Amino acid sequence: MDLPWGVLIIYAALAVWAGLLIDGWRRGAFRYFLGFGVLLLLALNVRYFIEGTSGAIPFFIGIYDVLDNLGLSESDTVAAMASCPDNVCSVWGDRFAQHPAWGVAFYDRFVNGPGLRNGLLYGHIAFNSVTFVLMHWQLARPGSGDDRRRGRHRLVGRITFTTLTIGTLCAVILASEHGSISEYGGNLAMTGFWFMSLCVYTCAVMGVVAARRSDAAAHRIWMIRFVGSMWGSFWLFRVMLFVLDPLLRNYNAAAILICIWFSAPLGIAIAEWARHRFSSGRRRVPAVGLQRA
Ligand code: HEM
Repeated sequence: MDLPWGVLIIYAALAVWAGLLIDGWRRGAFRYFLGFGVLLLLALNVRYFIEGTSGAIPFFIGIYDVLDNLGLSESDTVAAMASCPDNVCSVWGDRFAQHPAWGVAFYDRFVNGPGLRNGLLYGHIAFNSVTFVLMHWQLARPGSGDDRRRGRHRLVGRITFTTLTIGTLCAVILASEHGSISEYGGNLAMTGFWFMSLCVYTCAVMGVVAARRSDAAAHRIWMIRFVGSMWGSFWLFRVMLFVLDPLLRNYNAAAILICIWFSAPLGIAIAEWARHRFSSGRRRVPAVGLQRA
């Protein structure tokens, strides 16, 4: 079997990314870490539009297969892993006979599922990815300064809020189907994804309300929390799952449920912590516009 080089490149990219985090921590400037994270997100998400769900989902599951199968023999059965016909749900092919159970369900839901469900997934990925890029643009170019800059910030802000609304709505509808999917955690997954949406959307709405009141300080605080919630719901979710999935493979849906419920609030908490730490003057402020009150 050919090696899935794409997945190996993702592992190398994750190692480089960890290096950028350590370097950013030392220098107190996270521009490169954040930029790399955005590019990596785009590299993963654009796959859906090039390869379709039948190519992108096996790639995504392939990232988790290696650690999940560590030390597992073919005859072992573990609660949070399952098989799929001819191993089509993973780019590793026959190398691994078992895959994360949420991954097998995820593949089946979209590759063998109705067009409307697929449309919602594409909508969710496209609109949330655009939001993810635009929110960094907004942070780097705050609305302070002349009228032209303020006008541009306001326009991009409106576009970002619209794409967020559509992307989140798609996610809420997708999650409403999760009650019957035990591999995700059933009703706990459904309500967990709704809670994640609430965390993200509340921060954004509070930020918009503050902007409309012309309260620049509160606007900045809520938008930093919003950025944290988005990083949490995408990157923290996937990195936590990477670590927890093999550790909790004996407990059905435990790892994914922890990620669903905790990634967004943890993202907000980290953003809050960073805001305090880098505004306190103890370190140089990260160069992404956080320094402007
Ligand atoms: C508002 C917070 C979020 C919620 C509630 C949410 C929810 C979901 C749900 C329900 C699914 C589909 C699972 C299924 O129905 O089987 C999903 C998958 C996905 N979401 Fe989100 N999501 C959020 C944030 C994000 C963000 C910020 C991005 C990207 C910028 C994103 C990108 C994706 C991708 C790419 C997938 C497919 C799995 C993968 O390849 O990673 N999501 N999300």
